[in-house]
Amino acid sequence: MHDFEVVSNEEIAEGIFSLVILAPRLASALKPGQFVNIRVPGDASELLRIPLSYVSADAEHGTVEIWYAVVGNATRRMSQWKPGFTSDLLGPGGRGWKAPEGTKRALVVGGGIGVPPVLCLSRELVSAGVAVDACVGAASASKLVGLEDFRALGCDQICVATDDGSAGACGFCTEPASELLAAGGYDYVATCGPGVMMSKVAAAAAEAGVYCEASLERMMSCGFGACSTCNVETADGMQGACMCGPVFDASKVVVW
Ligand SMILES: Cc1cc2nc3c(=O)[nH]c(=O)nc-3n(C[C@H](O)[C@H](O)[C@H](O)COP(=O)(O)OP(=O)(O)OC[C@H]3O[C@@H](n4cnc5c(N)ncnc54)[C@H](O)[C@@H]3O)c2cc1C
Ligand code: FES
Repeated sequence: MHDFEVVSNEEIAEGIFSLVILAPRLASALKPGQFVNIRVPGDASELLRIPLSYVSADAEHGTVEIWYAVVGNATRRMSQWKPGFTSDLLGPGGRGWKAPEGTKRALVVGGGIGVPPVLCLSRELVSAGVAVDACVGAASASKLVGLEDFRALGCDQICVATDDGSAGACGFCTEPASELLAAGGYDYVATCGPGVMMSKVAAAAAEAGVYCEASLERMMSCGFGACSTCNVETADGMQGACMCGPVFDASKVVVW
């Protein structure tokens, strides 16, 4: 359990906020792909915390940055948080990304609010000397996040696709991802976003013979293995996303 204080909370795209919190012990413990389970006070009928990935952690300054979409009551209340607001969270939660030893070139594919965990991973990979290409998708240009960050990382190829064609190619980012994979040269793929997107990326990676991991979203009640609400059907049986995931070997996921 970590107490935290809000440092900033700003809208960075339509309906998507960047929340920076001060939580020094957490900032030095998080690993890319893990999540935190945040208490959002203000409604006594809502007992559950909400699971959110993080996009960056600064151990030196003790801060953690989270990008979240406003979709329901809790995230709507979060969007009203001002600097100085305090609450608490449980974390780090779950199993993060695990690129194979010796990975030299990786492809990350993020859709919508699935971008933060793959951007976080990309920073780690680039600092370890891995070349990273990125495919980023969103419903429209106004909802795209992470592009500048991928550019700042020096990714060789950044492919953008939007459902309505208002930025990049018109369509899904699975298409450029499949083309890049077919061209070859990757030893690792990481994806996060809508289930249908991740299943297509996983299929393209399997076709190209490249190991692929996917970060799955499930409803979570407890966030620490006690309730089974977050089960994912895998080739090895039912596995809880909060403890065995949220990052899974994509080839083992049966139901996205
Ligand atoms: C491991 C993990 C990491 C996540 N990381 C992020 C993140 O980095 N940024 C982000 O914006 N969101 C993330 N989510 C989703 C986020 O937890 C939900 O959007 C949030 O709990 C919604 O709360 P709410 O009360 O505002 O909405 P609610 O009123 O509870 O729900 C609104 C809508 O969102 C759906 N929803 C609610 N909870 C979840 C959930 N856990 N997973 C999928 N759909 C849900 C509901 O079915 C409903 O359609 C993550 C979820 C998981 C499991
Ligand atoms: S959320 Fe309770 S077991 Fe995963």
